[in-house]
Amino acid sequence: MNAPLFEKVDRYITQLYEAEDEALQFTREAIIKAGMPEHSISPIQGHFLSFMAKLVNAKHILELGTLGGYSTIWLARAVGDSGCVTTIELEARFAEVAKTSIQRAGVADRVSQRTGKALDILPQLETEDTPPFDMVFIDADKPAYCDYLDWAVRLCRPGALIIADNVIREGKVLDNDSSDEKVLGVQAFNQKLAEDDRLTSTILQTIGIKEYDRMALALVKG
Ligand code: DHB
Ligand code: MG
Repeated sequence: MNAPLFEKVDRYITQLYEAEDEALQFTREAIIKAGMPEHSISPIQGHFLSFMAKLVNAKHILELGTLGGYSTIWLARAVGDSGCVTTIELEARFAEVAKTSIQRAGVADRVSQRTGKALDILPQLETEDTPPFDMVFIDADKPAYCDYLDWAVRLCRPGALIIADNVIREGKVLDNDSSDEKVLGVQAFNQKLAEDDRLTSTILQTIGIKEYDRMALALVKG
């Protein structure tokens, strides 16, 4: 594969759409400075998420895996000032870093940060009097992806869009003998997604600065 070319084209698209402004650059740098995993989505993936959110007119989005808030900021901008993003992060330290960047990006008023185990927080969301989600972005710990999918469907309105990151893992999903728990997690997720009668789904294979990996897309049937 021609990685340098794919990276150059990624940068070309990023520049074309001016897809990373100062607030997003600050967010990316804050993640590096804090020694957090550099697993944020790329600028054009953020641009893609924003496009998809607008396509389904998402006003209420759930994100699993805030990390440093990079994708949260993209989603918060996409919902507009009448929208809301609920984002869940396990690590309190990461959530603090995200909080600063989200505030700095000027979207804190439309972001609800929850810190703790997603599988504890998701049942709480169900009991709260919030409208169903129009879109869910799953980008958290891979072994729990199947559980997250069930929760996403449960908390979404019919016609909602579910997007999951990292379902290809540089092709490691092809390895039926893998003992990597992340690979096992996304293999089970992809199988479940394809078989789930509640969903219409597909997997988008693309490549760029985040190497060879990418996103699954599912629509909750109405
Ligand atoms: C990993 C997680 C991510 O969300 C990502 O985008 C890339 C890698 C990981 O845990 O390996
Ligand atoms: Mg990811």
